[in-house]
Amino acid sequence: MNLRELYINYFVSKGHKQIPSAPVVPENDPSVLFNTAGMQPLVPYLLGEVHPYGTRLCDYQKCVRTNDLDEVGDTTHHTFFEMLGNWSLGDYFKEEAIPLSYEFLTKVLNIPTERLAVTLFRGNTLVPKDEVSYNIWKSLGIKDSRIKFLSEEDNWWPNMELTGPCGPDTEIFYFRSDDEIPIDFDPNDDRWVEIWNNVFMEYYHNADGTFSELPKKNVDTGMGLERTTAILEGVNDNYLSSVFKDVIDLICDISNLPYYGNEKSMRIIADHIRTAVFISADYSSIKPSNTDQGYILRRLIRRMIRHAKKLGIDINSNFEERLALLIIEKYQNYYKELIENKDVVLNVLKEEKNKFNKTLEKGLKVFNKCILDNQDIDKETAFHLYDTYGFPIELTEELASEKGLNVDIDGFNELFKKHQELSRTASAGKFKGGLSGNSKKEIEYHTATHLLNAALKKVLGDSVHQKGSNITEERMRFDFSWGAKMTPEEIQKTEDLVNKYISEQIDVEVLTMDKEDAIKSGAECMFIEKYPDVVTVYKIGDVSMELCGGPHVKNTGELGHFKIIKEESSSSGVRRIKAILE
Ligand code: ALA
Repeated sequence: MNLRELYINYFVSKGHKQIPSAPVVPENDPSVLFNTAGMQPLVPYLLGEVHPYGTRLCDYQKCVRTNDLDEVGDTTHHTFFEMLGNWSLGDYFKEEAIPLSYEFLTKVLNIPTERLAVTLFRGNTLVPKDEVSYNIWKSLGIKDSRIKFLSEEDNWWPNMELTGPCGPDTEIFYFRSDDEIPIDFDPNDDRWVEIWNNVFMEYYHNADGTFSELPKKNVDTGMGLERTTAILEGVNDNYLSSVFKDVIDLICDISNLPYYGNEKSMRIIADHIRTAVFISADYSSIKPSNTDQGYILRRLIRRMIRHAKKLGIDINSNFEERLALLIIEKYQNYYKELIENKDVVLNVLKEEKNKFNKTLEKGLKVFNKCILDNQDIDKETAFHLYDTYGFPIELTEELASEKGLNVDIDGFNELFKKHQELSRTASAGKFKGGLSGNSKKEIEYHTATHLLNAALKKVLGDSVHQKGSNITEERMRFDFSWGAKMTPEEIQKTEDLVNKYISEQIDVEVLTMDKEDAIKSGAECMFIEKYPDVVTVYKIGDVSMELCGGPHVKNTGELGHFKIIKEESSSSGVRRIKAILE
């Protein structure tokens, strides 16, 4: 049995329900591009919503973290990873969470206690030192020399800056080395690696900097599957564990080269193609582009191709397909979208490869000219490589740094802004976003989205279906299937109808139903396959009923005045409305 199964079986045996992995692209959360932690799809429930599966949950969640995309190439960094997690939504707290973690590690994974150490929160003006967890760890047999109290820098999750649910945590470390295990645990000694985090989520960090108590005390845990698998298998390079070994072997086979001596490029290829497969198979239908998630996908594929070329792999061969098929086969039992969207994945990879392949050679010539002159890459060249040859700026930076040269990034950004293409800075800002939760305004827009969906069906007909939505503090955006430009009358009617629903002050009810029943009773939803068998449905009187994770306002009267500010084409057969609440 692999770690994923051992984990789920253990927590199910302790009364937890397994929930399906959410898509890698979060819905209705414009503050982040991808899910970066197992808890992210659970934010509404950590804030107090009732989860249809109950108060004890566990899962393996696909996560994408791209802040350190450029670090990939060493033994531990990945852009995609699976996070194993168990949650208590106001059910058990420290006294049960810690023994569960300890029992799983020592009894199921058979890790000897001598290899373990823990850190705890040492307290601040808001929250006292975590003596409770300390006593629990001691009672389980962890010695004082293996327990360290650290500041909020280390033992507060996610951190002190981000708004949203948060709390002190206790982190569990494993001694990953053949050296003799030191008696004293030193958290700065990198032979001690963190394997699991238990967050005691009982606070909400408000936008004004204050902290409030959440309605319930929750537990949120996260264990990285890749790292822990490597530890259990006794390898010091994650790419040599069973998670990656066969992919690396295939790359060796395709390139006819050994792993040693070519590790960096091989790791980049293995990591990036796995992430690209997962992103393009996701139900959110991301395609390579110059903005947001699409840009990340593009960067991953193009960087992967560049490294394949570096290894002498024939780019015109179907090497990417062979690798993608192996990854799909490895994961298909756990993520069925991989097999369902297999053709989409293969097409995305092939098309992006062909697009890049057409210009890669010429772009490299332009680049190599600079190298011959031993010149730093000026802004014009960087922009030319981007604009004409499709070199993501990060790729140019990487090529330059391999030759010890610099790139005029500020200059590039200047030119870039001028050309009003992708706002790379905007994308980068999103990585910092974190777990912002939802502000009151965003929650109002969320409910307005349901009202707009219902109104459009009344005005245009039942063939209207939601195709996407995006909410910020300032506005809502709603994409729906409709083949023609809306007339001014239709727009006015839709707006009036939404305002009528608001003035009627209708209560918003949240129901828990079997998925089948919800669909039978006409509840709307975007991707039916994605929902678990038991679902949360938001019902707004007779106006609307939708499968949705929330959160929503309690009554439509809270919304204020609704105004459509734009109606435009989004893509073929899809229209886009931008609207505000005044
Ligand atoms: N959410 C916590 C983490 O990602 C468990 O570390």
